[in-house]
Amino acid sequence: MTNEQYYELIKPYEDVTRVMLTKLEILNHSIYSKDTGKPIHHIQNRIKQKKSIEDKLERLELTDSVMNAKDHLMDIAGIRVICYFPGEIYDLVDCLKRQTDLIIIKEKDYIKSPKKSGYRSFHAVFGVPIHCLDAMEYYPVEIQFRTMSMDFWASMEHRICYKKEYEDKETVSQEMQQYARILEQIESRFEVQVRDG
Ligand code: GTP
Ligand code: MG
Repeated sequence: MTNEQYYELIKPYEDVTRVMLTKLEILNHSIYSKDTGKPIHHIQNRIKQKKSIEDKLERLELTDSVMNAKDHLMDIAGIRVICYFPGEIYDLVDCLKRQTDLIIIKEKDYIKSPKKSGYRSFHAVFGVPIHCLDAMEYYPVEIQFRTMSMDFWASMEHRICYKKEYEDKETVSQEMQQYARILEQIESRFEVQVRDG
């Protein structure tokens, strides 16, 4: 894939990212409640780098063509929404699912079913329509919804372990799983405090 092809490829993904960020901002102030405040703590977003696209296509044993990237990669546009509590994540996801212009392409609830590593997060891929001249096409945006405690764990674990190989991997991984459980407990304790005032 040439640099020119890459910059051409990512244009619509930048457009759908802006659309989704606006939708999330609108939900953030409309879900706002006097007791609990706004559901979103902060939002991050990124467009997948050229090198990461090429590496992922290689892992999938596909040639690094623009067509393969469009057809096989659902995370070229990525947004991470960091909330306070899991309940707020489900509220946001429900609201987005009710928006009739969006389609839902994929969802994985790693909050109800955490990964073996201890990873917790709600992943959803939404198809967002782009209208140009007389054509319409859906582009995927991957959104990872996390609470602050899930994000803290995932960011640290990503730095330390994710997709890496080293000697005492098993011990470190056990420890990480334990921290994930402790953080989940702390988060539920905070949630009880908020609910019961
Ligand atoms: P990828 O090829 O990595 O995108 O995997 P996938 O398409 O099977 O998707 P998956 O649902 O596993 O989610 C992938 C993304 O979730 C990763 O890019 C990470 O951001 C995050 N993720 C998934 N598992 C873990 C984990 O064990 N630890 C951390 N830190 N992040 C994870
Ligand atoms: Mg990914």
